[in-house]
Parts: sequence; structure tokens; C-alpha cells
Amino acid sequence: MSKQNLTIHEALHPPPAGGPTADFEQHESNVRSYCRSFPAVFVKGKGSLLTAEDGKQYIDFFAGAGALNYGHNPDFIKERLIRHLEEDGLTHALDMYTAAKREFIHEFVHTILQPRELDYRIQFCGPTGANAVETALKLARLVKKRPTIGSFTGGWHGMSAGCLAVTGNRENRASAGIALANSVFFPYPAGPTHVPNTLEYMDAIFSDANSGLDLPAAIILETVQGEGGIYVAPPEFLRGLRELCTRHGVLLIVDDIQAGCGRTGDFFSFERAGVTPDIVCLSKSIGGYGLPMSLVLMKRDLDIWKPGEHTGTFRGNQLAFIAAKAAIERYWSSSAFTREILRKGGLVERTLRQRIAPLHTGIEVRGLGLMWGMDFARAGGPAVAKEISRRCFQRGLIVERCGRDDTVIKLLPPLTIEDAVLNQGLQILHDAVREVAAEPRTEIAAGGAATPWNSFRLRAARR
Ligand SMILES: Cc1ncc(COP(=O)(O)O)c(C=O)c1O
Repeated sequence: MSKQNLTIHEALHPPPAGGPTADFEQHESNVRSYCRSFPAVFVKGKGSLLTAEDGKQYIDFFAGAGALNYGHNPDFIKERLIRHLEEDGLTHALDMYTAAKREFIHEFVHTILQPRELDYRIQFCGPTGANAVETALKLARLVKKRPTIGSFTGGWHGMSAGCLAVTGNRENRASAGIALANSVFFPYPAGPTHVPNTLEYMDAIFSDANSGLDLPAAIILETVQGEGGIYVAPPEFLRGLRELCTRHGVLLIVDDIQAGCGRTGDFFSFERAGVTPDIVCLSKSIGGYGLPMSLVLMKRDLDIWKPGEHTGTFRGNQLAFIAAKAAIERYWSSSAFTREILRKGGLVERTLRQRIAPLHTGIEVRGLGLMWGMDFARAGGPAVAKEISRRCFQRGLIVERCGRDDTVIKLLPPLTIEDAVLNQGLQILHDAVREVAAEPRTEIAAGGAATPWNSFRLRAARR
């Protein structure tokens, strides 16, 4: 990628004595994660491109883990934010009534909810996805007066204790340091623990008063699992689950934090199945500009909260309301954006299936809309996925990994990415896969003996 002239930046920020990343390594907690995979110091973002302080540009196929569906710093939003700041508009306002919030609510109701015949009330939570999930679980338990929540293998819902209780990943669960209770897991359809009759099993267990399982208050799921490895639940499964939940008086919660806001094509990921969840969690890209915001949508009769029963200081990020309104107005007033997402998704799918997957047997491709995964579980394993991500980064492409043992290369480009940049990123990915696949013996094994890459079994060093 081309170098950019960053003289002004360089003048304002002279290079640190110990090297560009020394301050982070010495003073920032060991818990740092993404920066280990992408060890550049970034200074600018525009559209689908990131620029590091050494001037190197990167194509961003990670998009803030799905928080930047509309790309970095879109001008039409930036202008509104600047105007608001210049007029000394509010930045923070707890959950007070403000003009910015009213305009967001109006836009969201009229452009997103009403055309889809969704009659939800909106609850603004603390700003993270985990806040939305915690809120949804608490509400479901309050409504149903039952403690248990059903979840799915491979499900990933956030890092707070309540969220971890419904998250599958053992390593993440262990980090809670306490017993994670009041949850029960079922095999996710299409995932590695898939069984042909999950719904039948759930139905039997829910129906039998002697099954040993207390009826859950709710079932929570991602209709396309993100961190779990890009597994797409079939629409008929979602319809069956909706029917099962209704019949047993169990609430259905869709965690659309990563798969929502257009990521799978439609605004909500469940639209493709024609189902209406009882509760929906949104975060990440709802803030429009990467600004923190999260909300819970609930069917009207579920809104049994007493005033102030669930509060939080940061429920009124006014800049996020302004950015979110602008993004919804610009992209969701017609179905054109959905068509564009699906067209670009088709381009990604064709390239992955026809040009990249054939580079080696065993690569599995999965996805929907602009949410794609290339799984190397049977094509070299975690170390190969890690090496491909590393070589992509060296060539100027940011792609993260996910799934069991991080074997899946995850593609989450901004939904607004230009075709030329998308193709350029895919070409980098192609070249990295081809290069790694062509290596007869690998030096990839972290600390291990060189082995043929396609029979490689060692677990990669974690991120
Ligand atoms: C599906 C899903 N739910 C919840 C979360 C948690 O969001 P946050 O990291 O903002 O707490 C994530 C984050 O990646 C997610 O992908």
C-alpha cells in the first residue's frame, strides 16, 4: 500500500524513544489482545482504510469487530457531529430527554421498526454489547420469574459474568473465576456440535415435567454466530425455534450485536427467517460512527420494568444518537443498501469458494451477507489460520480469527466498502493463503518441529 505524508503528525508526535509500541508493552495490561495480532500504531481511518503512524495503509476487513459497518469516519456523519459540538450540543445526558435522542428514536421507529411491522419498546442500556445482553437476560428472568436461560454451543455473548454464563467458550468462561450458573446449552445447528434433531430434543425436555431441566425463562442466540466461527442457523431452524418457544412460554432473545445493523444483508439478521423475537440486543454498529451505544428492543407487554429498576450512567451518548440517526436515514430508507450488501457478499463468496478455497483441500467457507469465515480446522489448523492472518497484515490487510481454536479467518469488511478495495483485500488474502499452502514444510509451528502444514496438529500459541 502507498505511503502517506504524515509530516504534521510526525511533527506533533515525535517517535517515542523505546520504539513505537514500548509504552503499550510496558504500561498497558497484559490483557491486550487485538493489538498483538495487528502490532501497528494507527493514526487515521477513512472508509475501509486504516493508516499507521509509519504511513503504511491497511485495508480493514475487521471493521472494529463489526462496530464500523459504515466504515471509518464517513463525512456525512462527521459533519453532523462537528456541527453538534460547535453548537455546544450535549455530549452526555444520562437518560434525560434530549432533542438528539428524540430524533434518533423517531428515525429508528419510522425507518427500521414500522416498515418491518415490529412493535418494540426501546431500552437504552450502558454502551457495550455486554450491557445489552445483561439487560435482556435480567428482563427475561423478571418477566418469566424463572432463573434459567437456554443458549447454544459456540454462542458468544460478552465478557461480564452474566454474559459468560450463556457463552460457550470454556477459556472465556473460566476467566469469570466463579461458578457460572442458571444456563443450559443446546447444540447449535450447522456448527461442529450439530445434531439432526436439536428442536425435537428441546421439545422433549421442555415437555417432560420429569426431564430434570427447569423450563428456561428464555433462549438466547445469534442467528449467525460471530465469535463462535461464522455458523449460519438455517431459516427453518429459526422458525422452528420461534414456534417451540411460543408453545412452551419461553422468550426468544436474538443477540444481533454482531450480525445486526445490515451485516447479513437485512437490518436485522432474523428477517430472512420471517420470525419476530421477543427481545433483541443491538450494539456495535448501531452507534453509526463507532460510537458506543447499545439498546434492547422488547415486545410492549414485556416492558414491566419499574422506573429506574435498571440504570447506568452512560445510557445517553448524544453523539451516538446523532451518528446513528444519520446512518439510518442515509442507508435504511429503502432496500437498496440490502441489495448492495448482498451483491458484495456474492462477490466475497465467489472469490472464497472459487479462487481461495481450492488452494487446499479441507478449507471450509461459510457466511451470509458480508459476514464470512474461512475455516482451516481441517486445512492445517489454528497455526495456519494465524499465519495467514499475519501474512495478510504484512501485506496490508487486517483480518481477525474466530471459532474453535481460532481456526476461522473472519471477514467483516465495512458494508460500504468499494468494490476495488474489496477485491484488493481478497487478492491479498488469496496470495497469503497460496503462499502458506505452497510451503511444503512449515516453520509455522510455534516452538514445535517442522511438520507438513496439512497434517499440522499443534495448537498455536494463543493471541
Ligand atoms: C454476538 C455478540 N454479543 C455480545 C458481544 C459483546 O459486546 P461488547 O464487546 O461490546 O461487550 C459481542 C462482541 O463481540 C458479540 O459479538
